[in-house]
Parts: sequence; structure tokens; C-alpha cells
Amino acid sequence: MQHFAIEVIDSDLRIEWNRRALGFQVTERHAAFEVEGIPVELDFMRLANAHHEIVLVHNAEKTYRMKLLPGADFDGPPNFHHAAFECGNRDDWLALLDCVRKECAEIVRGPVLHSFVKPRGDGSWVEKEAVCILDPDDHRIEMFCDLDTVDDDGTQDSASVVRLKGTGTEEL
Ligand SMILES: [Fe+2]
Repeated sequence: MQHFAIEVIDSDLRIEWNRRALGFQVTERHAAFEVEGIPVELDFMRLANAHHEIVLVHNAEKTYRMKLLPGADFDGPPNFHHAAFECGNRDDWLALLDCVRKECAEIVRGPVLHSFVKPRGDGSWVEKEAVCILDPDDHRIEMFCDLDTVDDDGTQDSASVVRLKGTGTEEL
């Protein structure tokens, strides 16, 4: 995966929040109808040298409303659920967590060690340490580190090396 695009209520505020909380930089900003057929504001932001990893989309004609409660959309079309950012190591993840807390992002889950093999783990699947927040537009964003890899034979490279049931191609 390379990038995702999200709708935002206020582009200027979101750019500033993405800078402070997540360390993004602006690459390009474009107004609606700069190019025929593109009726929305588009802001491209990057973490390193790729042109962008995130695109902020704003439609000035749309009346936006915040969700009532996280996960409380009991009527409506299927939503995109969350996007996740991977940190290179646990220290970077803790630093990002600090940064996000300072920006008053609402934490909806964690920080938690997802693990059914490590003693400190919560007993859940997918080996990693993670936190889920709501950004200022109520998008759910996960930040994690130390995600396990899976070998060609389906063996998960966790602390105790587990062959996960049901992960072989022949079992799909
Ligand atoms: Fe996730």
C-alpha cells in the first residue's frame, strides 16, 4: 500500500494537525475546480520523499457532520474502517504516542500489546503493539510497531514461532 485519501472538514486545521501530531509535510495544495472534473480541494502530504502518503479531500459544497460515537454508525453505507501507520521501532512508536497525546487525539483502544504468545499480551491475534485514535475528523487511525512477519509456509515469526492454523494456501 502507498497512500490513502480522507475527507476532512477543515483543510487548514487538518494540515496543521497532521504536521504536529503525525510529522507530515505539505507537498502540494490544490483548490476545487483548478482542473476540470476535480470539484474538491486536494492537499497532498508526505512523510519522507514520496510525493504523498496521505491526501486530504474537502468538498466545500458538502455539509459535514461528525459521527455520533466511535463505531455507532448503525445505519448507513459501509465505511472505510481505519488506516494504520507503522513505526520502525518501539521507541519511535512511544514518541509518536506522546506526540498524539499532546494533540489531544482521542484514544479509542490501547496502547496495547496484541499477542496470544507473549506474557504481556492481551490474548488477541496479530502480534504487534498498537494504539488506535480518532483524528480531528473522527477517522480511526492505528499506530503500531513490531508487527510479525509470516513465512511462505504460513509460520508466524512471533516470540515463540507459531504455525497459525488456517493460514496455509491449501487451507484457504
Ligand atoms: Fe489495523
